[in-house]
Amino acid sequence: MLVTTKGLLVKAQKEHYAVPAFNIHNLETFRVVVETASALNSPVIIAGTPGTIEYSGEDYLIAIAKEAAAKHNNIPIAMHLDHFEDVERLKHCIDVGFTSAMIDASRMSFDDNIKVTREVVEYAHLSGTVVEAELGMLGGREENVVVDEKDAMYTNPDAAKEFVERTGIDSLAVAIGTAHGLYKGEPKLDFERLKEIREKVDVPLVLHGASDVPENLVKRAIELGICKVNIATDLKIPFSDAVKEYFKEHPDANDPRNYMTPGKEAMKEIVIKKIKMCGSEGRA
Ligand code: 13P
Repeated sequence: MLVTTKGLLVKAQKEHYAVPAFNIHNLETFRVVVETASALNSPVIIAGTPGTIEYSGEDYLIAIAKEAAAKHNNIPIAMHLDHFEDVERLKHCIDVGFTSAMIDASRMSFDDNIKVTREVVEYAHLSGTVVEAELGMLGGREENVVVDEKDAMYTNPDAAKEFVERTGIDSLAVAIGTAHGLYKGEPKLDFERLKEIREKVDVPLVLHGASDVPENLVKRAIELGICKVNIATDLKIPFSDAVKEYFKEHPDANDPRNYMTPGKEAMKEIVIKKIKMCGSEGRA
């Protein structure tokens, strides 16, 4: 079933688990995520950044999603646009059939972030598409969005309340100490801040940059109100490492069906781990 993230996240919020959002890049990674989620009876969010949409094609991805939803009708699947900054591009992808959209205007001023986000909300809600936005700023790199650690900015709980009220968003991405990509040391998550945001804001909260964060910290964040957990880097690395390893052992390999397979298998293990970490197994 192809659904929006709204019902998925509201249920997760009520029942205190999180729905994993996995960034995919192509048919292979798409299938690993959906087939694994289906085997574990877990709701799942398929996420694509602007670069992925450009690479795979929005219409191809939606066609794959429809097929996946029909084949795996034991689980709800949401198609999510991740970290879009270009409003027109975002609107186009909504028209094509994505069910959930993140507008990332977090690099703008508070008022401009509200203005741009509000515009997307008004457009998306016409077709029942739901909207995630970010307040505060995560460090690290997610494609073209590069934020130096010193410029990263935590989400202010009072501002978060005002932001949600004025934009009408369906879920809020918070900056509480995670970053995109790998960490230099152990990340420090500001749980007090998360608690305060949870008290002031009633929409589902989203944790970006959840790769390479110790499991106990992600679980604690879920206990405190996170209900969507974004994973990209932790899938890309094992996939690529397994393919590299395959080429090391088979330097003459040239059949994608052979060299992609170990990548898919390595990725599957991580998808299982993350679903279990989120507590979404059996929640479809
Ligand atoms: P990671 O780099 O931690 O996987 O971040 C994923 C993410 O937040 C995508 O929006």
